[in-house]
Amino acid sequence: MNKKKILITGGAGYIGSHTCVVLMQAGFEIVVLDNFCNSSEIALTRVKKIVGRDFKHYVLDVRDTDSLRNVFAVEKPFAVIHFAGLKSVNESIDQALNYYDNNIAGTLSLLKVMKESQVYKLIFSSSATVYQQSTIMPIAENSLLSACQPYGQSKLMIEEIIRDIVKVDANWQVAILRYFNPVGNHESGLIGEAPCGKPNNLLPLISQVASGELANLSIFGNDYPTLDGTGVRDYVHVMDLAKGHVAALQAIESWHEALPLTVNLGTGRGYSVLEMIHAFEAASAKVIPYKMVGRRAGDLAVCLADPSLAATLLDWQAKESIEKICADTWLWQSMNPQGYTEI
Ligand code: NAD
Ligand code: WQD
Repeated sequence: MNKKKILITGGAGYIGSHTCVVLMQAGFEIVVLDNFCNSSEIALTRVKKIVGRDFKHYVLDVRDTDSLRNVFAVEKPFAVIHFAGLKSVNESIDQALNYYDNNIAGTLSLLKVMKESQVYKLIFSSSATVYQQSTIMPIAENSLLSACQPYGQSKLMIEEIIRDIVKVDANWQVAILRYFNPVGNHESGLIGEAPCGKPNNLLPLISQVASGELANLSIFGNDYPTLDGTGVRDYVHVMDLAKGHVAALQAIESWHEALPLTVNLGTGRGYSVLEMIHAFEAASAKVIPYKMVGRRAGDLAVCLADPSLAATLLDWQAKESIEKICADTWLWQSMNPQGYTEI
């Protein structure tokens, strides 16, 4: 039994809640910190139900440095997984200051308290959005970096901050994980992606069309140089992603190089929008009406991870199929048509 305590910021969110399950099932003790700005406390109740164990959580903004200090003093975490952040590319364009403040000031607050408390093990949630758009597919970690919207910029700036502090202080043991397109949910259907307001991402939109909540799906472009003209992405099951965090926690303990361990978490295999629709129709036995509309500004034709470094350094590989992703998503949607409500 591994009794190491992991502090999970943003642990009530989509990826955080699934990582809570996987960490507890791997024997870790956890403590969650979240201000619930994009999540529900019910997610944490559901995590406890899945695992059959209790844990503590703090309703706290990670930018509240004094309160954060108290949490570290009381909990004495072994390591931190930092999910807390705002994540919508579109919203970040209209709310740039809010995104920079939340994501960057939040991370600075956390890093300061970690250093003061001598907690140097950190896993940071980064994104494929930090890669320069013209890069060669599949994307390897040493590809050129640049972001063209505030959300991506905030992730890139945080990565740079981490690289700077790690370079001059050998105590830090940090992993930067660059997620591709996280999808799916725990197979119980008890936890899943519950975006506040209308979702932006493809799978939550498809499932809302399947359940009748939305009339149809707009496909953003069918003239890309792909197999059927629609955009291709690297969809990775969130349970696989969650396991990547446990693998990263194990890996950073033996990682003493001057740079943070930086890896892609993706599958290396792409699916088009039409392929996703057809897979979801098969899983749900529903018809997904769609209409073709113009390309969405800023979209790439194809975005795929080169996942080989994660296999080498973390001994991690995504395992779940697109059929499983769609079946799990449909179960979550059917059991929770209004997102998280008391049951
Ligand atoms: P999410 O919005 O579901 O979870 C984020 C959680 O952080 C929420 O529970 C929110 O309430 C909390 N939070 C936000 N700001 C906070 C603050 N200042 N103090 C305390 N809590 C705060 O998002 P997610 O999909 O689970 O993403 C988790 C992380 O992974 C984010 O940092 C996101 O940028 C990154 N990421 C997500 C994706 C994706 O497509 N989901 C892809 C790449 C990277
Ligand atoms: C997937 C595909 C769309 C909606 C985003 C962020 C990225 C990361 C993951 C955080 C694309 C198409 C979508 C719709 C459509 N998040 N689509 N109709 O854009 O690959 O990545 O989420 O870090 O940073 O940019 O994901 O789910 O929005 O789109 O046709 O209504 O579905 O054009 O080809 P994306 P997505």
